Amino acid sequence: MAKGNVSLSVIRRLPRYHRFLKDLLNAGTVRISSGDLSAKMGLTASQIRQDLNCFGGFGQQGYGYNVRDLYEEISKILGLGKHRKAILLGAGNLGRAIALHMDFSSRGFELMGIFDSNPALMGLAVGDQAVQDSAGLEAFCKLHRPDIAILCIPKEAAKAVAPMLVRHGIRGFWNFSHYDLTLDYDGIAVENVHLGDSLSTLCFRVNELEQAESE
Ligand code: NAI
Repeated sequence: MAKGNVSLSVIRRLPRYHRFLKDLLNAGTVRISSGDLSAKMGLTASQIRQDLNCFGGFGQQGYGYNVRDLYEEISKILGLGKHRKAILLGAGNLGRAIALHMDFSSRGFELMGIFDSNPALMGLAVGDQAVQDSAGLEAFCKLHRPDIAILCIPKEAAKAVAPMLVRHGIRGFWNFSHYDLTLDYDGIAVENVHLGDSLSTLCFRVNELEQAESE
């Protein structure tokens, strides 16, 4: 459970609401009915009402939702306005793609350092950062106290470096390595990201469609 008695599965749906609301806001939409929002998002109106009621409900009967208010409330619930310091480990293909393409600042994150152990990558420019030697990571963490670490390094490297990061105050891992950190660290937030899992789920769904067509 998270946020009092709100389940993590509801929390996991909030970023999607947030993304849709941001698009609506950018398109100049002032208000939206739960019916229209549900049609846009492919959810039922009652699912949306149920989700948002977990936080006290934001809609008004006959009016729907004020897009800006709801967007701001969800930002607040997710804690996106807070300034959080992030570091990224592993400036390989994945790490560089994340550093370059993820919009950290709109979520309140400051990417303050990119580290790698490969001497050939030292000083390489990735966006507005230069890759730093991971030999200096511990001193950097002591000095700057980053809040979250993004792990784009191999499994063994993630396992080896995590205790030091936790010791120096890391509160959350955005973990792309194939090492399951949740097993070791109670009290630290871990989001494991496995693109392969998503692809396997897609595989299952395509298989199901084919099976249904052949019946
Ligand atoms: P890559 O080989 O291009 O980059 C890995 C980088 O990590 C290298 O530059 C290497 O020097 C660095 N590194 C190794 N040990 C380190 C340490 N102790 N400290 C700092 N840097 C260190 O690999 P790629 O494609 O960028 O993938 C990175 C990792 O993410 C791989 O282990 C891969 O298995 C995993 N991966 C996960 C995906 C996911 O969906 N979760 C998708 C693709 C890759």
